[in-house]
Amino acid sequence: MQIQSISNTLIDTLRQRRQRLAQLIDFPAILWSGNSCPRNFPANLFPYRASSHFLYFAGLPLPNAAIRLEAGKLELFMDDPAPSSALWHGEMPKREEIAAQIGADAAYPRAKLESQLEGVATIAVQDPATWTQQSQLLNRWVLPQNQPQGIDLELAKAIVELRLTHDEGALAELRKAAAVTVEVHKAGMVATPNAKIEAEVRAAMEKVIIAHNMTTSYNSIVTVHGEVLHNEQYHHSLQPGDLLLADVGAETEMGWAADVTRTWPVNGKFSSTQRDIYDVVLAAHDACIAKIHPGVEYRDIHLLACTVMAEGLVDLGILRGNAEDLVERDVHSLFFPHGIGHLLGLDVHDMEDLGDLAGYEQGRKRSDRFGLSYLRLNRPLRTGMLVTIEPGFYQVPAILNDVKLRSRYQYTVNWERLSQFGDVRGIRIEDDVLVTEEGSEVLTAALPTDASAVEELVNG
Ligand code: GLY
Ligand code: MN
Ligand code: MN
Repeated sequence: MQIQSISNTLIDTLRQRRQRLAQLIDFPAILWSGNSCPRNFPANLFPYRASSHFLYFAGLPLPNAAIRLEAGKLELFMDDPAPSSALWHGEMPKREEIAAQIGADAAYPRAKLESQLEGVATIAVQDPATWTQQSQLLNRWVLPQNQPQGIDLELAKAIVELRLTHDEGALAELRKAAAVTVEVHKAGMVATPNAKIEAEVRAAMEKVIIAHNMTTSYNSIVTVHGEVLHNEQYHHSLQPGDLLLADVGAETEMGWAADVTRTWPVNGKFSSTQRDIYDVVLAAHDACIAKIHPGVEYRDIHLLACTVMAEGLVDLGILRGNAEDLVERDVHSLFFPHGIGHLLGLDVHDMEDLGDLAGYEQGRKRSDRFGLSYLRLNRPLRTGMLVTIEPGFYQVPAILNDVKLRSRYQYTVNWERLSQFGDVRGIRIEDDVLVTEEGSEVLTAALPTDASAVEELVNG
């Protein structure tokens, strides 16, 4: 890895994060960065992504490293590259140089870690080689799929407390990711009229990310089958009359993410039915953003989206009844089966490696209600939190053809009227919204949401 240079401001930010952690826990912690996994032989590797908890305190994606945090101090444990590695990878910075870059208080070879494990807490890293090593060294199971226990749980809660709201260093990175992502989506819209298949639009979008020396923060969704929520196929042809749903986000070199969705007509003009539904989704999107303020329950923002969508669908004659009652009966979930959004930070769905520890206020549990079970964030909002707002409308065959659901909502849905909206398979509009003292700031606001403005971009 060639290290990028870290500014003094960032070193100060990293130090402040370590100090703040020290105020929350009175035991040492070791965070591993993780390692890349080989594909078919040791030197052919899947792309490396350092653990986000490591990145938060160390700043740089150093493979196969660990940091020990105690009383605000950071000790770095990593090995210098083997002499033979220069042939393949060029001259690499030495441990001491990297330690200076990240403002470490001391630096040691990895083997020294073994004598520093007394009373140490940790968080499981995702790659199997590393969590196996964590478990062996600490002599207890440290598994990514298990909820942390004991001091590991205390550490996880402390890190959640820090990472829930973003400091200036984080916000500078998140703004970079958002700005590039805005350009990514514009490039996708511009490329659509000349594209024959989804993959060409994906290429035009990811090209912008790669050209900024960034990566995608999740696997891109670029599909004419937006009803498949996490569709990762790109082979479908683009036909006039199709809507293209693109959910693509950039991640900065230091690992900070954006997460944006737009839906646009392949031929540059929404049909009247597509436009009707688009405007319902947009009304929900706008109402939710207007409601974001510190102290507001994110669950209430979700329910507001459900109500606005239900109202819009009643107005279009697709649903029958009163919006609040329809939401009480989960009718909206037939078309909007997921939550209104999630935390965003070093990861898309930030800190979901810790289950619901970050997303759910202590003492709250996921609802098993159809429509609320996928709500990933259930806390009062705080200044400095970054969340997505991503209402959507989908005609998912597995839901709409479900015999039980169809009979439960036989008279509530005007199925015949719904059939007139067959050219709307999936629409989602997603932005990244920072909670501020005054309300909110949409970091991705430079990307239009208005249907006519989107059409204009597609038409060049
Ligand atoms: N891109 C995944 C999501 O929006 O949650
Ligand atoms: Mn999202
Ligand atoms: Mn998304």
